[in-house]
Amino acid sequence: MKKLLSEFDSRRILVAPSLLAADFAHLADEVKRIEEAGSDLLHLDVMDGHFVPNLTMGPPLIASLRKNSSLPFDTHLMLSHPGKYIKPFVDAGSDHITFHIESEDDPLEVIAAIRESGVSVGVSVKPKTPASAIAHLMDKIDLVLVMSVEPGFGGQSFMSEVVPKIAELRAMANQINPRIHIEVDGGIDGETAKVVVEAGANMLVAGTSVFRAKDGAENAVARLHETQKLLPPQK
Ligand code: DX5
Ligand code: ZN
Repeated sequence: MKKLLSEFDSRRILVAPSLLAADFAHLADEVKRIEEAGSDLLHLDVMDGHFVPNLTMGPPLIASLRKNSSLPFDTHLMLSHPGKYIKPFVDAGSDHITFHIESEDDPLEVIAAIRESGVSVGVSVKPKTPASAIAHLMDKIDLVLVMSVEPGFGGQSFMSEVVPKIAELRAMANQINPRIHIEVDGGIDGETAKVVVEAGANMLVAGTSVFRAKDGAENAVARLHETQKLLPPQK
């Protein structure tokens, strides 16, 4: 059974640790650890060495993790041709599939393919891509993923210049599709989370700050959930 984003309230803070920061020699244990820490989703970063200068994981790894976790799988495709790979990632156990507006495929076709396969649809924007690039898609998707670092690597510093774009997207969502989730990815910790939630984000991707938290994943996830009180009311 897929756990769709429509089942989650977009006024709730959802914490999605990024597996990229896990110890890859012990993945099943790492996923269990962040699940027990109170995470809402597992964020899976898929890179093709072409759209971004790095390679990570593919469907077989995700399918293996699926047998070890009941968390919804939030799959972030950093691929030049996401349209070719929807079915393998759905079959592997993804619940949400997000692709980049800057990829080379027709966004409407990719959205339709993801929708037809029965999972939630997200569109991501790189730091320099304006909100206007996806305005025409807002009524067709469940999630906007705002990159707050250049995609490709974990452990980078949060780019505060994307904050106005988050506010702009939340204002757009309030008008067009209030149920939409706004997710932010890159350099998110207890402090940067406050800034993005105040701007209107409700889904927080965090790799380094959760998997490598000195005081443990449970405290790190709790710090992110604490931003719930900062989420502006929906108009
Ligand atoms: C970057 C990925 C992120 C990344 C986040 O391209 O999309 O999900 O792993 O890692 P941190 O939280 O360490 O910046
Ligand atoms: Zn990501």
